[in-house]
Amino acid sequence: MPTAIVTGATGITGHAIVQHLLSSTTPKWSQITTLSRSQASTASDSRITHKTLDLQSSASEMKDSLASVTGEYVFFCAYLARDDEGEAAEVNGAMLRNFLSALRATGEIKHLKRLVLVNGLKQYGVHLGRAKQPMHETDPWLEGGDWPPNFYYTLQRILRDAVEDEGDGEKWDWVVTYPQDVIGVARANFMNLATALGLYASISASLPERELVFPGNLINYLAFNCWTSAKLHAEFCTWAALEPKAGNQAFNVVNGDTESWQNLWPAIAERYGAKVPAKMFPGAELKVPSSKEQRYNGFEVAHTVLPTKPPIAEEADKIGLKGLFDGKDDHSVVHQQIDTTKWAQRPEVVKKWEELRDRFGLDQSVWDKATWGFLTFLLGREYDCVVSMSKARKLGWTGYHDTKDAFFETLDELEKEKILPKASELQK
Ligand SMILES: NC(=O)c1ccc[n+]([C@@H]2O[C@H](COP(=O)([O-])OP(=O)(O)OC[C@H]3O[C@@H](n4cnc5c(N)ncnc54)[C@H](OP(=O)(O)O)[C@@H]3O)[C@@H](O)[C@H]2O)c1
Repeated sequence: MPTAIVTGATGITGHAIVQHLLSSTTPKWSQITTLSRSQASTASDSRITHKTLDLQSSASEMKDSLASVTGEYVFFCAYLARDDEGEAAEVNGAMLRNFLSALRATGEIKHLKRLVLVNGLKQYGVHLGRAKQPMHETDPWLEGGDWPPNFYYTLQRILRDAVEDEGDGEKWDWVVTYPQDVIGVARANFMNLATALGLYASISASLPERELVFPGNLINYLAFNCWTSAKLHAEFCTWAALEPKAGNQAFNVVNGDTESWQNLWPAIAERYGAKVPAKMFPGAELKVPSSKEQRYNGFEVAHTVLPTKPPIAEEADKIGLKGLFDGKDDHSVVHQQIDTTKWAQRPEVVKKWEELRDRFGLDQSVWDKATWGFLTFLLGREYDCVVSMSKARKLGWTGYHDTKDAFFETLDELEKEKILPKASELQK
């Protein structure tokens, strides 16, 4: 029976991996050590040992805390967000490097078979603008020239170097995953789409208009996208940990369907008992929003021109698009017709949150830590993000999760965990 260590076990990807390891019967995991920085793990099972450990401490400091910790498979989901990409590389790189050094120092690295590292679609620069699509794992890394640092590249290099420098008795390899926007459950984490969306929907449905207005833009609403269920990602991570042919490789991980907000939004509105306004994008045209004026009924807008050329520029010559993405006017735009960060500060919205908080017994920290900036980006980008799963499928991966189901199941779970108000009781 295999054993595991999960770092970042209280986060959105780590929590789902722990739950999946506990529920798995083939194989049955015999021992799981969960690590996090500040929050205690909520998983209760005799196979779990939880330790609070600061991965930002030095390897020698960590050595003592990890003295009795053993695991054949490490799922590395610890993550610290930093606005500056260079700093993100430094901070997250140090956490991974020091953790590996600490495992070497305790000697436990000799029992390690594979380390699975969770990265994401920033691999393809989706935070910088339009990428060539669908995205494939063989797409070029965006480095040199004007490209900013990318912390995922730093982490992947650390793993490659560590495997090349394996010492006596070490025989392990790695897998890296690239999930898309994750749909899952966590408290107070850095990027949580479902919680922010659930808060926006609960409050919109409880205000007198009972309207659920898509806060992003028309292009985004019509675009095709992929999403990643945290549960499906967890299944993928355990499959990839145990699949002999997956070693030393990186894989995209998305649900396996292609979806769009034009499908999902009305379904979410119905779940909350709200209506979708018949004319939801007044004045919008079928092109990239170029103006801050494109707003919904007097709400404040969020409008950002991204600072670099879009990733597709890297391959433009090769794919017959030379010159189309090089200019200053070719940068991608993020536009929300309702800036949700500012919306969340409106007096009537804050008042409604406080009412719902008290009525449903919710914690104020849910509101204080809601990731509105992440929501702005996901609903406001004016390009689609479609990802290929062919590489994993060719190795035998067959996992699939319907995206709408993933949203609904996650919203149900967030309600059970008392992170969100119960949608079915809002109108009572
Ligand atoms: N969330 C998404 O939608 C999404 C989408 C695509 C890719 N990704 C990528 O997935 C990876 C994992 O992120 P996530 O979203 O799962 O993270 P997350 O939900 O924000 O959780 C971060 C985890 O790391 C732990 N942690 C942070 N600093 C630590 C430290 N100094 N020492 C020990 N543990 C520490 C946290 O512990 P405490 O809670 O105890 O502080 C928490 O368990 C990242 O590379 C992220 O970019 C995420």
